[in-house]
Amino acid sequence: MPELPTPPGAEGILRLHLLPDPAYIARWDRILVGGGLKARLLNYALFALTARDGLDPVRLPVHGLALLAGPPGTGKTTLAGGLADRVARELGGQEVLLVEIDPHRFPSQLLGETQRAVAGLFQRTLPDLAARGKPMVVLLDEVETLAVSRERASLETNPVDVHRATDALLAGIDSAARHPNLLLVATTNFPEGLDRALLSRADLIEEMGPPPSEVAIEILRDTLDSVGAADGQPLERVAVLAAGLDARSLRKLVLKAIVSRRQLALEPSGVGAADLEAVLRGEAATRPARRDG
Ligand SMILES: Nc1ncnc2c1ncn2[C@@H]1O[C@H](COP(=O)(O)OP(=O)(O)O)[C@@H](O)[C@H]1O
Ligand SMILES: [Mg+2]
Repeated sequence: MPELPTPPGAEGILRLHLLPDPAYIARWDRILVGGGLKARLLNYALFALTARDGLDPVRLPVHGLALLAGPPGTGKTTLAGGLADRVARELGGQEVLLVEIDPHRFPSQLLGETQRAVAGLFQRTLPDLAARGKPMVVLLDEVETLAVSRERASLETNPVDVHRATDALLAGIDSAARHPNLLLVATTNFPEGLDRALLSRADLIEEMGPPPSEVAIEILRDTLDSVGAADGQPLERVAVLAAGLDARSLRKLVLKAIVSRRQLALEPSGVGAADLEAVLRGEAATRPARRDG
């Protein structure tokens, strides 16, 4: 079992996982994005984890922080885990420790509790784990919960403690940067709300959006293939009708088509492009007219 027990008192840690793990391969291979994003992300991770030690931080400041930004369902969280697995494979099967942080797990932002927990995470828990010497990928999922922009935050909606939590996170990222075997991968659904100081620390910021149509077709094909549906179906029209849908919704479209008919529910390999089109047309017909044009 590559899942490890979480250290006692380690607030905010969701899971520790030792990679490579065959169960993680799909998290890299089956997340399809255009524009060379995955190659850049992998190159960056390999560089940050292998070359950072010898670098002069003034001449080439590498914080060891990558940020994946975009709407829900575009693959940010899945790809971050897949990246850690892929790095382990690229490093010749060397073990990589994946540490998943869930900001929603921190205690309430009242009374400075979040600030204390974030400080504890970065000053004790992560350094202790990094001291084991393995390359380490730390996934800070939905980081906007912690790094609310101090400029945009009104004191009314964001009490002083939120500002302190952001400060604690920034200080934590700076101290994480001192561990050359530690790579932070943050995700956000809401980059506009992120603190500028966090954005400026990121070495790599990648935007993940709804897939362009050629990628949407690949995702639909991969989903159809997973239920054994016939190969080579023409999916171009489906992709046009589905334009703007995020990748998760594209995969769920196949599910909707399957459950739209009892016969397909019992024999899902019979699902085809026409079924997907029927679902999309039905949804278009019932979708309320958009008021904003
Ligand atoms: N780019 C993508 N390519 C293929 N499938 C995707 C992609 N993005 C999301 N998915 C599907 O949606 C699921 C949820 O994605 P997730 O990583 O949770 O998105 P996010 O973190 O951006 O909200 C994935 O497990 C996968 O099934
Ligand atoms: Mg996510």
